[in-house]
Amino acid sequence: MANVKADPGSVPAEPSPPQTSQNTTPRFSSSAVSVVFLLGGPGSGKGTQSTNLVRDYGFIHLSAGDLLRAEQARPGSQYGDLIKSYIREGTIVPMEITVALLSNAMADALEKQSLSASESAGKKARFLIDGFPRKLDQAVFFEDTVCLSEFTLFLNCPEDVMETRLLKRGETSGRDDDNAESIRKRFRVFVDTSMPVVHAFEKQGKVVSVEATGSVEEVYAHVKEGIEARGIHPV
Ligand code: ADP
Ligand code: C5P
Ligand code: MG
Repeated sequence: MANVKADPGSVPAEPSPPQTSQNTTPRFSSSAVSVVFLLGGPGSGKGTQSTNLVRDYGFIHLSAGDLLRAEQARPGSQYGDLIKSYIREGTIVPMEITVALLSNAMADALEKQSLSASESAGKKARFLIDGFPRKLDQAVFFEDTVCLSEFTLFLNCPEDVMETRLLKRGETSGRDDDNAESIRKRFRVFVDTSMPVVHAFEKQGKVVSVEATGSVEEVYAHVKEGIEARGIHPV
């Protein structure tokens, strides 16, 4: 996204409609960068499995939710209050904010990598983008202006399992949205707004769907099998 600077203060206050690919060039070329999206309902285990994937496959992990929480807490952020209320209600933050945060975090990671030349020599940077895109407009805007995704890893998990995990996580997470009422709202938003993204990518043959019940190790075995079938191998 050419007009996004390091400070998300450059994000327009009024969200504009998604741009189309007719007049935009993605900020990052698919020849330099590979992007895998990681989706699944709240509590499906995205963060947990990301840790495994970073360790074994050399992914650079960016969580959209973590970036939004950091921006919310950043002193002087003009979006702090707005992000806080969207997160508590479990609704989707206007996409320009989230896409700018991700795009800038990718640029920062690439800059760090190029400083340690031995790590980056001749290799594509692999990004695992967790909890994104949660809405169709985010998917279109990101792929048009930031980078095309290779595929989406989808953690398929029933609501009762996710609810039990989230209520347990809520005992220690300190998150505003790990409470029964916010969890209910997040589940609805996931079904109504985020599942259409999974279905849209499915139509393009770009979804790796994995059963996310069972132990962390069992889920990870499915994850490994799924991504290796798409040509991602350990580093
Ligand atoms: P997400 O990022 O998708 O919201 P997390 O990775 O934070 O999910 O997992 C939610 C909670 O469930 C965390 O407390 C985590 O430790 C726990 N958890 C994750 N995967 C499993 C699993 N396979 N079995 C049991 N608990 C899990
Ligand atoms: O992924 P995570 O559970 O950390 O996301 C927390 C909240 O952040 C979501 O419920 C939503 O309010 C916001 N979010 C968003 N757009 C994203 C990811 C997260 O609006 N792509
Ligand atoms: Mg998470």
